[in-house]
Formats: sequence, structure tokens, C-alpha cells
Amino acid sequence: MTVPSLPPVPHPSDSDPAPDDSPRLDVFPADFCWGAATAAYQIEGAAGYDGRKPSIWDTFSHSPDATLNGDTGDIACDHYHRWHDDFDVAKSLNLNAYRFSVSWARLQPTGRGPLNPLAVAHYRAQLERLRALGIRPFVTLYHWDLPQELEDAGGWPARETVDRFAEYAARTAEALGDLATDWITTNESWCQAFLGYGEGKHAPGRRDWRAAVAAAHHLNVAHGLAVRAIRAARADASVGTAQLIVDFVPASSSPADAAAARRWDAYHNQTFLGPLRGGGYPADVLDLYREDGLAELIRPGDDAVMAEPIDFLGVNHYQQVVVAHDDDGTPPLRARDIPAEPALTSLGWSVKPESLRNVLVRVAGEFPDLPLYVTESGASFDDYVDPDGNVLDQERVDYLRRYLAAAGDAIKDGVDLRGYFAWSLLDNFEWAEGYRMRFGLIYVAYDTQARIPKASALWYRDLITDHAALPRPA
Ligand code: FCB
Repeated sequence: MTVPSLPPVPHPSDSDPAPDDSPRLDVFPADFCWGAATAAYQIEGAAGYDGRKPSIWDTFSHSPDATLNGDTGDIACDHYHRWHDDFDVAKSLNLNAYRFSVSWARLQPTGRGPLNPLAVAHYRAQLERLRALGIRPFVTLYHWDLPQELEDAGGWPARETVDRFAEYAARTAEALGDLATDWITTNESWCQAFLGYGEGKHAPGRRDWRAAVAAAHHLNVAHGLAVRAIRAARADASVGTAQLIVDFVPASSSPADAAAARRWDAYHNQTFLGPLRGGGYPADVLDLYREDGLAELIRPGDDAVMAEPIDFLGVNHYQQVVVAHDDDGTPPLRARDIPAEPALTSLGWSVKPESLRNVLVRVAGEFPDLPLYVTESGASFDDYVDPDGNVLDQERVDYLRRYLAAAGDAIKDGVDLRGYFAWSLLDNFEWAEGYRMRFGLIYVAYDTQARIPKASALWYRDLITDHAALPRPA
């Protein structure tokens, strides 16, 4: 198949001089990964194909009132059948890296035992093609699609799931490890644990705070065991995890608001970052879950497993959140967020590029010597195809420009940042928000499955081209 030619879409660099808040390209290392990210359930579709069995997201999205308009990932972007063309488009955008997740429910449909050979063949073909295209794959093992049979056996709140994940990681790394060096164990454990088991907004839709705390601990241990399993399969693997890091800012200088922001930081960020550093959970985190049985869940050896050395840390960043103390708030958090001011994305998330710099500088300070990647960063806007067939998403162009400038500022501050993965390569199934929220660089017309690179995709392509063309010392 030939690389599709892209439509001639006007975008800022055609006419205007680069705005002052454009990224300084020379601060990005020559081998910087310019990528985009996706996740299996959000794009693959082909839910019942080739031996795949249901995951918790199939069950949840088919439950009444779980997702906007009852949307499901049954078909999604049909990427399972269209990946070859999608990779050609990615190549035409000059991406040199691509982060995607393999589906646990496809590779190991019941969550136990040998891998499904059809799924192994599928992902091996994808990895081989990425290699041929010169696109470096970053393989995520777990982006929230727990096999339903494991949920029926207790799910993440059950310790048994940790062992199942370790087995899945080992078998997958053995099956695919010769074709991929860069591995991400878990994605955004906070969302899985607390949105999935605490708030019930994500699969599996449970509302049980203690179960959520148990899920969080088990995801942390599962991560550590997966690091070991991947290394055992491929000694030179580079392994990390991708965690959601929110920039929490106290609403005022009052000690109460500062303490509230610290509690939210413990809850969202440190529950997952803390144990990676060694020495177990930080005091703030243990305090937060004092009534919820965290301490009793920790088995001898867990602290060391959770702190298994990693090669990089993936930062998924979307929001700055302003936090105020709230006496009436639910314990133990007793905090509320102050709604963000404009500018906002269509999901109502704040647009504050400096927050990306803040979190990168902060995480780099907490993990000296550990390379960082921005493994997700992006925004949803109300994109549409105009009468000429173009998607002129100027807001996303501005967003990317300003966030990449902030990433460049973090590098100037001394952060060892190795790559940036725009969320997302394609518009896709945005979990409980269904298909309404469009995050893609590439527009997906779900009725025809046509792909249209948006103006932001072409802007990103040109930026990558310009970066590659910078003169480098010999
Ligand atoms: C992150 C998820 C990703 C996507 C973006 C918008 O929390 O990891 O799958 O939904 O948000």
C-alpha cells in the first residue's frame, strides 16, 4: 500500500510567522521520540473476533446508562482491520514513535494460560510493520481491559489478579519481546482503581472505596512483577509505567487549602508514584487510607516489588486542578475543586501549558536520573469536517504548540525528557464519554471509517520535519 497523500490544509506555518509561544526546537534532543498514543479498547473494535473474549469494558459499556449514548467499543475505529493503513498515515505524519496497548482479553482471553495464537500473530504483524516503517513501538500491557473472567473472580481488589497479570506479562513479553524494546506495564492506575472500583464511572463500575484502595495496591504490585517478567524475557528491555499526574494547586495560601491539595496529590499522584521510589507508601498516602485497610493488604516483599527499578517513567498529563478544603466533603479527602476558568477543552479540562512544565519538573525532582516521557498529552475539541473536507482544528494546533513549548521549557530546566506522545493518533472511544469527545490528530468519520488528518496533524508533521532538519554537531 502506498502512503496516502494528505489534503492541502492551510495551517499557521503557511502564512503567519511562528507565534512567540512556539516551542524552541533546538532544545529537544536529536533522538527525541515524536509520537502519538492509543489504547486497544478505544480503537480496535473487532470485539468478538479471533478468539477475543469480553473484558470489563465490553461488559460495562453494554450496561444501561454506563456510557454516553450507550456507545461501546464493539467497532470503534475498526483499527483491528485497518491498522496497516493507519500506520501508513502515522508514517506520513513523520511520527518516529507510537505508543499502543495490546489487549489482554485478546491475547489471553480468559486471563489465564497460554496466549491466543491469533492475537500473537496479529500483534507481531503490527510490530514488524512498525519496525519496517521506522516507527519505534512503546507497548502498553494494560490499558484497563481486564478479562471479564478475572473480574468475575474478584477483579483488581483480589490479590489473585496480581499473579494473573504477572503471568500475562511474562507470556506476552516472551511472545513479542524480540520485536519491542520499550514496554509500559500499567496505564493510569488511578483511573482503573478509583474510577473503576470507587466511583463506578469506568469499568467495572463498582462503587466501593475499600475495593478501590485494594485495587490500587494490587496494580502497584502487578506493575513491579511485570517489570521483572519483561526483563526476564528480554534482558535489554526498557520498562516503565505511564501514570496520570495532575498538577494540584491550592485555592489560597491558607494552610487548610494547602493540606487539601496535598491530600489530593496523595490520592491521585503519590498513591502510584510513592511506592515506585522505594520504602513503601509515603506517610501522606498511608494516612489517607488509614481506615480503608491499605496497611493490612501489604504483604512482606511488596514494597520491594513495587520499587523494582524502572528505566523510565511515563507522565500522562491533562489538567491543572485548583483545590480547596471542604468541611462537608467526603472523608478522607474533604476537598473540592474550583472550576477551571477558560480556556477549556470540550471535556471541560483546563488549558494551562505551564502545568505540564510543573509536573515534569516535579516528577524529575522526585526521580532524579530517571528519563521521562510524556506518554499522553492532548485535548478534545468539537472538531468537524468543513465543506471542503478539511478539519481545521486551530484550537488543537494552539494547544500542541503551547504544551510542546512547555515541554521544551522543562528540558531547559534540566528535565531528561525523551519523548512526547500526543493523545491520540485517532479520534476514538473516549470511555464513558463515548465517541463525542474527539482527541485525535486524525479525524475518524465513524459512519464510513474514513480518516482525515486534521490541521493539527499536519502542524505536528511539519514540526517533526523541522526538528529533524536542524543542523547537528558532527
Ligand atoms: C487518559 C486515558 C486515555 C484517554 C485520555 C483522554 O486518562 O489514559 O485512554 O482516555 O485520558
